[in-house]
Amino acid sequence: MFEKLNNRPADSLLALIKAFQADERNGKIDLGVGVYRDAMGRTPVMRAVKAAEQFLLDTQDSKKYLGPEGDLQFVRLLQPIIFGKSPKFDHRLVGIQTPGGSGALRIGAELIQTANPSAKVLLGTPSWPNHAPIFASARLAVKDYAFVDLTSQQVKFESVVDALSSSAEGDVVLLHGCCHNPTGIDFTMEQWLEITELLVAHKLVPLIDLAYQGLGDGLEQDAAPTRMILDAVDEALIAYSCDKNFGLYRERVGALYVMTRNVDDIGKAESNMAALARVNWSMPPDHGAAIVRTILESPEMSAMWRAELEEMCERVNGNRAAIAAAAADLAFISRQRGLFSNLSMSKETAAALRAKHGIYMADSGRMNLAGMQPADAGAIVTALRAEGCL
Ligand code: LMR
Repeated sequence: MFEKLNNRPADSLLALIKAFQADERNGKIDLGVGVYRDAMGRTPVMRAVKAAEQFLLDTQDSKKYLGPEGDLQFVRLLQPIIFGKSPKFDHRLVGIQTPGGSGALRIGAELIQTANPSAKVLLGTPSWPNHAPIFASARLAVKDYAFVDLTSQQVKFESVVDALSSSAEGDVVLLHGCCHNPTGIDFTMEQWLEITELLVAHKLVPLIDLAYQGLGDGLEQDAAPTRMILDAVDEALIAYSCDKNFGLYRERVGALYVMTRNVDDIGKAESNMAALARVNWSMPPDHGAAIVRTILESPEMSAMWRAELEEMCERVNGNRAAIAAAAADLAFISRQRGLFSNLSMSKETAAALRAKHGIYMADSGRMNLAGMQPADAGAIVTALRAEGCL
């Protein structure tokens, strides 16, 4: 039967990791896949994570199954960090642990498909390249609209307003809660307010992808749009990732939260999420969520984690400032947030940057600014100029 399969292209972002590793040139710069690097160019295990792992090694006395919902104490402890302390959420929010934010998106998509198969997912482009395939795999129709103009590096807000205004009741709107991937262009709070009003007016359901909390302007600020939306709408889904803000990438730690219209729907949402998890992965892997839970249960480890996350956030914003200082035409990079910025360039130009200058970025022109050192800014700008990007 396998002869009937067609070859599928390798994921270009993941292929970049291998291509970078294979490049033997000194001075190569990796602005590819979205991982944070410190001043030594490493993606370190965070100090709080090491402390939590030591604690688990010393105290964990069983690895028996937890169930398809995963570690519910992890889910509960993460909740105030994301949603704050509003009592409104206490009775209408339910969450499960998922393998990364991707697992949360997958279960979220299947939950939407189960509840409302005719719902369309509105997706502003460009977006994370895995968004549309995840929704399509869950047999949901995706409706694209242009979110940003990469030439001017401005949000096309009228296009956002048109897309939301022309949608049917019950359609789902994918929103990047902070640190937009791939552009780094987040809505202003005024724009978030207008989006919130449109969601309410047209009875749309937000699906908020929150994968970089704490890496934009700080934990609280990065959660502000999500909290504002949840305060106004009846129903919402939040796909959360701890991959970046706990540096747990390959451990695959995330959570899906669902806010229901009323307390009666909570049990239905919960049982469906558990059933969907059961058929996808039966139960999520434990270790990463146990680390996060251990950190959040300990005031000392939590303080360590918060301090280290702030350092990381400052460093990324420092890299943004270094690039902006090196080229006036890249000044917009210092106003964007999170790991990424997306220049307008062809695939051929991205290939030339790799081949001629040893600068690795996605074919789309997405740069991971957390991958560079401030001292790399000059070389990056020189290469961009040489290839006609500036
Ligand atoms: C990225 O966008 O670089 C990361 O989220 C890694 C991934 O899975 O694509």
